[in-house]
Amino acid sequence: MRLRRRQTNAARPVVRLLLVLAVAACRRPEPRAVPAAGWDRAAFALQLVRTEYREQTETGDFSGVPPLVAMVDGTRTAVAGPDERARWLDQALVRVRDALLAHAPSRTVARMCTETTAQLAGHGIRLATPRARPDLARGASLYQLACAPCHGPPRGPPPPAAAHLVPRPPRPTESAQTPYELFNRTTFGGAGTPMPSFAETLSEADRWDIAFYLFADRWPPCGEARWPPLPAATLAHLSDADIWRADGWGAAACLRRNFR
Ligand code: HEC
Repeated sequence: MRLRRRQTNAARPVVRLLLVLAVAACRRPEPRAVPAAGWDRAAFALQLVRTEYREQTETGDFSGVPPLVAMVDGTRTAVAGPDERARWLDQALVRVRDALLAHAPSRTVARMCTETTAQLAGHGIRLATPRARPDLARGASLYQLACAPCHGPPRGPPPPAAAHLVPRPPRPTESAQTPYELFNRTTFGGAGTPMPSFAETLSEADRWDIAFYLFADRWPPCGEARWPPLPAATLAHLSDADIWRADGWGAAACLRRNFR
């Protein structure tokens, strides 16, 4: 009796597995959706081309272009899919790629990147936002551990130990316009530079903490807290200039520190 019951129990997982396989075999394959991180990767490619192409080609040296093209191509694979958004984005990325290969003027390329980025939301493409409220104090200590060895203090020069790095690490907020762009740069790193990707070594929350900290740290302490706090998800995609245009001078010092 006992033996028989044991046999049935042992057979049960096998039956369940067969059922799962049968159901899986009958289901029609769904069109492959672009994973959410694919959109962020595309936004990052546009960001990197916008900020790096001019720097790389200012001196007439185009040797830094192939890594940028390779990055755009890698991104095209990541966002490939049958859906309308993916098709639109791929066409935009192809235009950027062709402009890079043709060594188009850096102003033209930067404008293509800015315009495409501004159109993402209109095409239904949603980019990453913090899932929890970023913690500025935590961001400060994470920065010390993970970034300062190469970058030095956020508003200071890189430490002497970074002298061998080519190119030299700039101030981390030099060209990122929004915390989101800084988050992206930390997630994906540089294209063929010593700037590492922290996608595996820092959690998403860690990377948001650092990005929000760096954007707050640029400002003197908040003078008068007369601006109602914004949601972190909104703030992540606002530049200091956006805040200045909407709320005036001085608002960023407060809004970058008091958010919800
Ligand atoms: C091993 C050294 C190293 C470490 C560690 C490092 N970086 Fe960098 N970083 C660099 C170098 C070199 C560059 C310049 C090359 C480039 O732009 O990719 C750079 C560039 C950047 C840029 C682009 C700056 C700009 O405006 O052009 C940002 C943002 C940045 N780092 C943020 C960070 C953050 C945040 C961390 C910590 C989580 C970090 N980095 C850790 C070496 C490092």
